[in-house]
Amino acid sequence: MLSKRSLVGVPLKFHTLALLFFLFLGGQVFAADPAVSDSEEAISAGKSVFNANCKTCHKVDQKAVGPALRGITDRRSIEWAKSFIKNSQAVIASGDEYANNLYAEYNNLMMPSHEFLSDADLDNLLAYIEYGDKVDPAAEAAAAAAAGGEAGAGGGGGIPTQYLTIIIVVLVIVLFLILVVLGLIISILTKYVNKQDLDETDKEFVSQKFEFGKVFKSDAFIIIVTALVVALVAKTAIDGLYTVGVQQGYAPTQPIAYSHALHAGTLEIECQYCHTGVEIGKSANIPSANICMNCHMHVQNVQGQDGISPEIQKIYDAIDNNQPIEWVRIHNLPDLAYFNHSQHVKVGGIECQTCHGPIQEMEVVYQYSSLTMGWCIDCHRQTEINAQGNEYYDKLVQLHSDSKDALKVKDIGGLECAKCHY
Ligand code: HEC
Ligand code: HEC
Ligand code: HEC
Ligand code: HEC
Ligand code: HEC
Ligand code: HEC
Repeated sequence: MLSKRSLVGVPLKFHTLALLFFLFLGGQVFAADPAVSDSEEAISAGKSVFNANCKTCHKVDQKAVGPALRGITDRRSIEWAKSFIKNSQAVIASGDEYANNLYAEYNNLMMPSHEFLSDADLDNLLAYIEYGDKVDPAAEAAAAAAAGGEAGAGGGGGIPTQYLTIIIVVLVIVLFLILVVLGLIISILTKYVNKQDLDETDKEFVSQKFEFGKVFKSDAFIIIVTALVVALVAKTAIDGLYTVGVQQGYAPTQPIAYSHALHAGTLEIECQYCHTGVEIGKSANIPSANICMNCHMHVQNVQGQDGISPEIQKIYDAIDNNQPIEWVRIHNLPDLAYFNHSQHVKVGGIECQTCHGPIQEMEVVYQYSSLTMGWCIDCHRQTEINAQGNEYYDKLVQLHSDSKDALKVKDIGGLECAKCHY
């Protein structure tokens, strides 16, 4: 009985295993759909094609100017996706219902054609769109925390003014409480002493009233008050003088309602795309209308609006009339000071935001830092040289290595008058 069962059992088990094995194989074949590759090379090649051609309008997992792209090969066939990317207008013109609905949903916003992309480019693009940059919540949280920490550390030394105010208020409250407690002690002591047998003069002394009038008239009081008033007036005057010519917070209205929050924030266009000088020269440069036209040839309105936007029309007018757009200058050092962007951005490795604040969140740019000499000097005192991978600094770092402090900008002459003044 037993042997029979095992005899039957063995082939049965074998069958099941074989079945499972084939199912597994089948699954493998099915998962490795040959059309959209998930290889690392394809994804990273696709990412660069995407960044160069699609990033201004698309995000993989989020709706931007155009739809979120991930899952496109589930929604549509691979062939469809390829021909739409190459020439969406042709697909729409062919009467394809899905394409026409999508086009209407996006207010007839024309996606530029990409006939120049090779078939391999398109394969890589789809690989990136379907498998690239999967969001890992843990990693993202860590990155956010790191960014937060960095911003905090970038705040620089000293006690921020808002804390100073709090500290002063707390001190005043504590002093007041001490006064109240002293008053209580005095009254208790007075009562106690009055119970004792005292002679007249002592009694008078103990129960004498505290007269405010006398205090106000006393010389000491008048001197202290005068000194306080003089100090206050002097401080206000000096503060006022120090801020002459300081334009922190200056945010003029610009001739076109151009938004950094939209272009540098939402659309994530690199600062260097428009401010072409930051890594190569002294000035950052304000972009000419031609740079705007790279995109605004295609993008003529904001999603959800009809007709050409009046603000974008102004770019066309500038081009047609051959007139530059007259942007109002915000940051402006006096002629006596020398400041060089590439030295700070490229060599120093300092982020734009350290000096210009959260530009990518500004609808209208304002001057974030004071741009005073003290501001430059403070940073040069505190900031370490970015010597990594820079042979120029190897010797200096070596010479400096017996000092226990890190090599700072002040150690390479960052406090010398002539470095900043002509
Ligand atoms: C100027 C903005 C713009 C650029 C650049 C752009 N697209 Fe689009 N894309 C759109 C818009 C808008 C739509 C919605 C359909 C329409 O209005 O034509 C769209 C639709 C799509 C669709 C269909 C999405 C769906 O859910 O069916 C795909 C796929 C696509 N784009 C891929 C790309 C790729 C890949 C690139 C880069 C090679 C690219 N797009 C560049 C604006 C753009
Ligand atoms: C699409 C083009 C474009 C991009 C991208 C861009 N900017 Fe600008 N930026 C401009 C234009 C145009 C102006 C002048 C109008 C204004 O002030 O808003 C300007 C002005 C500025 C100013 C003020 C200049 C002055 O007059 O003193 C600063 C600072 C600035 N940008 C920093 C940045 C930073 C930092 C980034 C990246 C996070 C960035 N910009 C990305 C186009 C751009
Ligand atoms: C890399 C592409 C790109 C560049 C370069 C670019 N823009 Fe834009 N811009 C866009 C897109 C895309 C939109 C529409 C966003 C939307 O639909 O919400 C837009 C929207 C705008 C709007 C809003 C229109 C409205 O009606 O509110 C203005 C104004 C504008 N851009 C001005 C400029 C100026 C000025 C420049 C040059 C300094 C410039 N843009 C450069 C992509 C670009
Ligand atoms: C160390 C501080 C610092 C950093 C970092 C910095 N800037 Fe500036 N930026 C300044 C100062 C100071 C001025 C005023 C320069 C002047 O008036 O000569 C300025 C001016 C500008 C202007 C006005 C035009 C000009 O060239 O004068 C633009 C645009 C600008 N910065 C963009 C940027 C961008 C984009 C970055 C990042 C890639 C950046 N800045 C990084 C300090 C900085
Ligand atoms: C956020 C910090 C920071 C601020 C603010 C800053 N700098 Fe600098 N600066 C640096 C760093 C870092 C270097 C060193 C770059 C390098 O390695 O050459 C530097 C270098 C320099 C140098 C070259 C010094 C030398 O000995 O080679 C000059 C000149 C200079 N800065 C001028 C200025 C002026 C003018 C301002 C104010 C308008 C300013 N900096 C504001 C960080 C800053
Ligand atoms: C890191 C750069 C830097 C260094 C080093 C530096 N300065 Fe300045 N200085 C500036 C800047 C920037 C201004 C303009 C500040 C403003 O407009 O508020 C300035 C302004 C001044 C002014 C005021 C001019 C006026 O019109 O108000 C004087 C005077 C001056 N510096 C002298 C000096 C002397 C002396 C030294 C050497 C001990 C020195 N500076 C070192 C950057 C520097």
